[in-house]
This record gives sequence, structure tokens and C-alpha cells, in this order.
Amino acid sequence: MLSQIRWFFLGSILHLTGLAKSAQQAYKLAVMAENVKKRIQQLRNEIREHDYLYYVLNQPKISDQQYDKLFTELRELERSNPSFITPDSPTQRVSERPLEGFATVRHAVPMLSMDNTYNAEELRAFDERVRKQLGSEDYDYVVEWKIDGLAISLRYENGELVTAATRGDGIVGDDVTANVRTIKAVPLVLFSDSKIPDVLEVRGEVYMPIPSFVELNKLRAEAGEPAFANPRNAAAGSLKLLDAKITAGRNLSFFAYATGELSKPLAANHYQTLQKFKKLGLPVNHEIKQAGTIDEVINICLSWGQKQPKLSYHIDGMVIKVNRFDQQDILGATGRAPRWCISYKFPAERAETTVESIDVQVGKSGILTPVANLTAVQLSGTTVKRASLHNFDELNRLNVGVGDTVVIEKAGEIIPQVIEVKAKAAVSVPFEIPTICPSCGSAVAKDEDGVYIRCQNPDCLGQLKERLKYFAGRGQMDIENLGVALIEQLVEAGLVKDLPDLYKLRKEDLIGLDRMGEKSADNVIKAIEKSYNQLFARVIAGLGIRHVGGQSAQILAEHFGSFGELMGADEQTLAAIDQIGPIMAKSICEYVTNEKKRIEELLVYLNPQQPKLKRSNKLMGKTIVVTGTLENLSRQQAQQAIRQAGGKASSNVSKKTDFVLAGREAGSKLDKAQKLGVKVINEKQFLDMLGKGPS
Ligand code: IVH
Repeated sequence: MLSQIRWFFLGSILHLTGLAKSAQQAYKLAVMAENVKKRIQQLRNEIREHDYLYYVLNQPKISDQQYDKLFTELRELERSNPSFITPDSPTQRVSERPLEGFATVRHAVPMLSMDNTYNAEELRAFDERVRKQLGSEDYDYVVEWKIDGLAISLRYENGELVTAATRGDGIVGDDVTANVRTIKAVPLVLFSDSKIPDVLEVRGEVYMPIPSFVELNKLRAEAGEPAFANPRNAAAGSLKLLDAKITAGRNLSFFAYATGELSKPLAANHYQTLQKFKKLGLPVNHEIKQAGTIDEVINICLSWGQKQPKLSYHIDGMVIKVNRFDQQDILGATGRAPRWCISYKFPAERAETTVESIDVQVGKSGILTPVANLTAVQLSGTTVKRASLHNFDELNRLNVGVGDTVVIEKAGEIIPQVIEVKAKAAVSVPFEIPTICPSCGSAVAKDEDGVYIRCQNPDCLGQLKERLKYFAGRGQMDIENLGVALIEQLVEAGLVKDLPDLYKLRKEDLIGLDRMGEKSADNVIKAIEKSYNQLFARVIAGLGIRHVGGQSAQILAEHFGSFGELMGADEQTLAAIDQIGPIMAKSICEYVTNEKKRIEELLVYLNPQQPKLKRSNKLMGKTIVVTGTLENLSRQQAQQAIRQAGGKASSNVSKKTDFVLAGREAGSKLDKAQKLGVKVINEKQFLDMLGKGPS
């Protein structure tokens, strides 16, 4: 009534100024507008209600056509009355303008990862740890699917979605609000409830349902675009698009499974939180089970494994969570993962297929590896066409021949492997062990230890390509724009004959190569230049010295500080360094002697950086063994801290050991220390010794 009076006055004013014919007409218009507004509100509520029935309860009450009718009516009304449009309207999910890039968002509560188990025994060990920490208290678990998508944090303020951010590194993620708004399963406004916290961060998984994934890849194939390897990649790729209109067509969905920042508690435990989520209109996976004991958890895990193929979304295991929040708080988290939850991964999926041919690849140190080319087969959400056979002994042991039917397995998301021959082909062609290198045709020989066969030609181009790929790779020089295809071309064209040649490349050398224009050439040169000041440890690792991996490179870098010092060290000095040992020492000396020229040439361009380490002598002369899982430090970090404080980090417990620093699940080394009467310290005591509180 009040608003009608207001409109009446407004109508009168308009009349007086001559903009409306009469006060009565203005009044009529105002009433009409009010009715339109009401209808708009009614339609929005109805649409939200149907979204809820569809996405949260899984019980749609109307057909798609009826839903579309409501939606069209709303859109038309808003189109003719644009002043009534509000950002929370269901029509406003897709923003018209593409983004320039993604802003970053700092998570108020870090988004952690999760530790994994693979069998009942490991689940029992998890339960054992929980029980130990909770003492005599009773506790229970919640078991749910581990959805294989992409973690997202939704921030609702006063019930309205304000930000959606990816996990990123757990501390800072990307602001993907525009894209997440297009996901119909994500409510733009929560159902009002007086008890809803002003700030409510909802964590969950954005995923692509399998039918949408299959359809998307079909369309991409038709358009000549590369297929997504699995639904997770497709979901991640779709959320990272700058144009939300494309994301809107990708049919992503969402399940909520946890909270982040909350201005007040939502519930006392996880199970209640999930129920509350549903009431607020947030979709929660419908398979959630409470379990009173670890035996119940194990039964659920084992029985759910059979349901897996029937689901319309990809999962990569199950998640087991301690239910009560007060108990979750007691259990806390390590730097990486909470101690109150764990995932259970199903035994690796297997598939059968046929070996079409066997190739031999040459690696960076000349090792020849047989690789099976397979008839394409689906395995754990990816299409598999190749599988490593590791080495020729393994190939003989498996007795794999071309034409055979084999069982392949993908353990822990790694490269697929051939497990066994299921059936020999009628004419199975046995594989002949090569006597020459498949890349350069020169002679090969078996290693002294008798497992690997190596190409003996130091100038083999196949080896060179692999060495370059490794050198430029992520953990080494990290040269972003120097991909596999470009390396192949550079070698084929004779532009790069050894690692230092990369630094002699000029833009003009690159232009004219396949897919290489001005801009790309510029980017490659810039990326190479960026690696001039790479860390010393990474440069050592990049050389690909046999037996020297990233961790040993780190130890060498810390010990010597520069190539000058490293190259001056003899075998004995090297072997005496903790964790280097005689085999690595020999290999390093051989490399330095044979490849001196390569290192010197690289140093014309490179200026390897060695961060100054703060040294102390707090542990001078002490030999310390680190064992088990620490809370605040990785084992490498603890060992590094020991060395920086003048101590020796050893890996074997003996009478000469001064202390054993033991973390969680310390095993035989702790036993041995106790037997020998060696002092055992915990992480806190260790940090106290160094004069550092826990970080
Ligand atoms: S709870 C770890 N519940 O798994 C902190 N996570 O490997 C609490 N995930 O980044 C997460 N399904 O993206 C939780 N039902 C579920 C989940 C789930 C999938 C993902 C999540 C997380 C990753 C950790």
C-alpha cells in the first residue's frame, strides 16, 4: 500500500511536469511495474526451487521444457525491464564480456591436500593414529566418494556468492568467479535461513559428468581440436577459460564437502554440516555413510568399489573423515594434509588390449627402453595407446610378443604398465633384442650390472634430444617455451649439437622452423635467457650426470657452492659427503673429466645462483639420523638444517650416532636406536636445539 502511495505521488509529479498524461495513467503504469517486479521475483524463486529439486535432491518435478518456459518468461520480462535485473538472477550466470586474466585470491583457511591409503592395513594404521591422539574419547567416521575434479572454494557473504577460487598452491588460488557462476549446481544465493553465517566459505569439487566429457571430446574431435585426457583435465581446462560463455556450455557440476572460513559455526560435526548444506541449497553427493568403527569403514570401502563403474562422474577413491569438529581440531594437520581425514584409493584399474608393435626408445644416458604400442583402450578415464616395458629382461620375463593380448594397469596415475600376457597370439612375433641403437644405428652394449642395454655413441642424436628435454625440464633449468617438438627440430636442423648451443641460438635461427613466427621466436629466446641465473643445484641436476638426481644435486650445491669448487673435488672427497657415496662420486668425477668443456662452455652464459645459507655450529660434530614423518619439516629440510648447523645427517643408526630425530611412524631405525641406547629426540627438541620454534 505504502509503495502504491509513493507511486501515486510520483505519478502526480510526472503529470505536473507534463511527462505523463494524467496522474491516473502514471499510477496505472506504476502498478504494472510493481506487478512485473513481483512476477520476476516469483519466477526467480520458482527457478531456484527447481534447481534445488534437480541438483540437490535429485528429484526434478517439472520437465526440461517447463523449466525452459519459466526461464524464457523471466528473461523476456527482464529484457523489457532492465532496471529490475539483479546479479543474483538465474539469468545472470553468464557474463557477456570475457576476462583479461584471473586475479588471485588468498584463502583465509588454507586448502590442504590429503594423504592416501591403498588397503585395509593402511586404513587400520590411520585409525590407530587417530585413536592414539584422541586418547580414550569415542569417535566416529564419515565415508564419502573422492570426486575426481577440481577443488573450489565458494565464498558466500550474507547468503550471496561473492567469490569462487581454485585451490592453487593451497594458500593463493585463481579467482574464477565468472566461470563458476555459470555452473547451475552452484547456487548464486543460498536459501535464507536466519542462522546462516554472514561469511560462509563452502569447499567442494567442480567436476565434469562423464556423458558431458564424452560429448565434449566428440565435438572437439570434429572441430580438429585435441581431446581432453580425462574428465578432471576437462573440468580444469573449462574453469580456466577467460570467456565464461564457453564455460557455460561445458556442463560442469559441483558437490560441496567441507567449509573454509566461517563467521560462526554451522554445525558440530561433518555429517550435520552436509545436511545443513543441502538445506541451504548446496548439492552434496548422496552417498555419504557414517561408520562407528574402522571395520565398518573398511567394509564400506570394499563394497563401494563395485559401484564405481556405474557412477556418472569420475571418482578416484573414497574419503574417510573423523566426524566431530572438536576432534578434528585435536588431530590438526601436518603442513600438507589434515590428520583427521584420509583417502582410500581403489586398487589400480586394469584393462586388456593387444600389442600392435614394440618400439625401442633411447634415453638421455643411452639406455634403450622397449615400449609397447597398443590397440587404444580406456583405462581409469584415459585412452591408453602405449605402455612401457621397462627393459629387455622384463620383456623376456613377461614373454610379450607382437599380437599378444596383454593386461595393462595404471598404478597411482603413473604411466601404464604391462602386467602380464593374457593370451599369446596364434602367430605371436617374438621381439628381438636390438644390437644397434634405433636412433643412430651404432653399437649397443649391456651395462656391467647386466640389466640395461645402452647405445655407446656419445654423439647419438636420440640421446641428445633426451638430454636437452631433461635439461630444459621443470625440475632443472625450467625453460618454459622449449618444448619437445622444438627440441626435436633444433637437433634435426643441426642448430643444437650440445647443451651450450641452446645459449647460442638467435631469433633468426628459430624463425622458419615449424610454427615459429616472430613472437614465438622472441618468447623462446626470452625463456632461454631467463635461465641464465638458474639455481646452482638445478644446473647440476640439468647436466644429467648418471646417478645424480635433484636431491643429490642439492647436496652437492650446498656443499661446494660453485662449479669451480665442485670440479676441483676428487673422488675421495666426493664419496665422503653424506648421501653421495662411492658410486655417485665415481660418476661425477668421470663426468667432470670427460665433459669439462661442456661445463665451461655453459658457464660462459650461465651464472648459477647459490643462496647464502645461514650457518651455525649448534650441531657441530654431531651425527644425526632423521627417521619417520615430521610435522613441520620434510626429511630433506631437516637434513639440510643439520648440515647448516655443522652436523652430519646420516642415514644409518650406529653406536656413533649422537641422536635419532624421530617423527611419526618411525620404524626400524627407531628400534635400532633404542637397542643401542642412542638418544632419541622429537621434532620440537630438534628445533629447540637449533634455536627455532616450529614455523
Ligand atoms: S575434503 C583435504 N572430501 O581431494 C582437505 N576432498 O586429495 C579436505 N576431494 O583437494 C578435503 N572429493 O579436491 C574432501 N569428498 C571429498 C573430496 C575431496 C574430492 C579432493 C579435494 C582435495 C583433494 C585432496
